[in-house]
Amino acid sequence: MKIFLDTANTDDIKKWASTGLIDGVTTNPSNLSVQGGDPTKRVLEICSILPDGEVSVEVTEKDPEALYKQALRIAALSPNVVVKVPCHADYYAVINRLVDQGVSLNITLVFSLLQGLMMCKMGVSMISPFVGRLEDNGQDGVALLVQLREMVDQYGYETEILAASLRNVEHFNAAVESGADIATLPVAVFQQALVHPLTDQGIAKFDADWQKLGVSQFP
Ligand code: E4P
Repeated sequence: MKIFLDTANTDDIKKWASTGLIDGVTTNPSNLSVQGGDPTKRVLEICSILPDGEVSVEVTEKDPEALYKQALRIAALSPNVVVKVPCHADYYAVINRLVDQGVSLNITLVFSLLQGLMMCKMGVSMISPFVGRLEDNGQDGVALLVQLREMVDQYGYETEILAASLRNVEHFNAAVESGADIATLPVAVFQQALVHPLTDQGIAKFDADWQKLGVSQFP
């Protein structure tokens, strides 16, 4: 499974890239806005921190033709950029054109099996079902991950399922169990997934027992 960080904070990305666990980053207009500054410079810096990773960068234009041109500009920023386009019917023709031109796309804001199916039929690289936001809306986000996995496998599509809007480790666990290809994680969720209290307790117990032996060098 690939793990992406769901952030535009370059200090966090640098820190956790050093573990070798991070396969990419998802940015969006909200997390770029939180960081402030020039978003183009920030995106280029993220791409250079993870030269072999996949960095999703979302369009901000609303008019379909302007969005198409912006998508091409975003794609040209770096070879490891994946262009994020919202799963909206107004953009279906643009998405089709971009796929035909070989632009790697992450279709974002996917909330239903049928939206996912349409995007897979078009041959996009990734679809991003939003688990947390479905739950905010009283719906079962995890069930959508499972439905999408079955659909992609049933028809043999090559599109990757990117589990997004994961707000806690339970969502991350569910994404793993669903067989999603990628999970994008807020830094706090990633960090939580690395630790377990019994590991800490185990280290403390081994250390206490070891100290009783009173050896100064080993081996
Ligand atoms: C990532 O691609 C999404 O933009 C992100 O996971 C959305 O998360 P949120 O619903 O917690 O804002």
